[in-house]
Amino acid sequence: MARLENKVAIITGAASGMGLAAVKLFAKEGAKVVATDIAVEQLKEVTAFIEGEVICAELDVTSEEHWEQVIVKAKEAFGKVDVLVNNAGVSFHKTLLEETLNGWNRTINLNLTSVFLGMQKVIPYMQENGSGSIINCVSLAAIIGSADNGAAAYAAAKGGVRALSKHAAINFAKDNIRVNSIYPGAILTGAAERHGVTSREVLGKAFEGTIPLPPFAGEALDIANGYLYLASDESKFVTGEELIIDGGWSSK
Ligand SMILES: NC(=O)c1ccc[n+]([C@@H]2O[C@H](COP(=O)([O-])OP(=O)(O)OC[C@H]3O[C@@H](n4cnc5c(N)ncnc54)[C@H](O)[C@@H]3O)[C@@H](O)[C@H]2O)c1
Repeated sequence: MARLENKVAIITGAASGMGLAAVKLFAKEGAKVVATDIAVEQLKEVTAFIEGEVICAELDVTSEEHWEQVIVKAKEAFGKVDVLVNNAGVSFHKTLLEETLNGWNRTINLNLTSVFLGMQKVIPYMQENGSGSIINCVSLAAIIGSADNGAAAYAAAKGGVRALSKHAAINFAKDNIRVNSIYPGAILTGAAERHGVTSREVLGKAFEGTIPLPPFAGEALDIANGYLYLASDESKFVTGEELIIDGGWSSK
């Protein structure tokens, strides 16, 4: 049996990187997937040839209205929501002294308020359904100062997601809703590709000496595999957990 048979999953930030890798993997493992992104045209293009049950929906994760619409769409299409992957997130490299109030608010909205909204909107449906798995994408930046040390608001937002994930895990365990988080290290995704970095080896050059495991950078599928484990019933007794996927960076 496929690992996500009969599961309905909403994935945010699915037009690129880890989100897109998760859509492909989840569909292959039998899930019915609601792939969402703010860049909905790009999303439709990149998911067009994925085999399996995948529908696309526009979701700006900072919009309460979009969240409500997407969850209704998922219910209409597939009858329920079992899994939410809060994957979308963006880092802007501004140190504490460089950051503006507008920039701070934008980053907190995009990386933290978004996760609050997604969980608040989806949990009542999961309660109705009798179970659920929520996976929040955090970052090593929430744990160690050397990760993304140029991004003050991002580190603070991801630290907030870390705490909010624990809060939700404890409060909704009684409803059989699990909440876990994933901590990527340096991973080759759209973020690096937009800066002309197209291979793990090239990205890894910047992390040699920092990340112990060659080629010193991961790929989107490494994270999608973590999402898969936490979405599946294989992790049915796991909640409030922090899964670090970083090639050993944080252990140094
Ligand atoms: N790549 C890394 O090394 C790394 C490290 C630590 C954490 N992360 C986290 O991993 C997650 C996925 O990032 P990625 O590296 O795959 O990035 P990516 O740039 O490849 O993909 C991010 C996606 O999010 C979408 N997006 C941007 N703003 C949005 C919004 N307001 N609403 C909905 N979607 C929006 C983009 O259109 C894009 O498709 C993020 O939460 C990021 O913070 C990445």
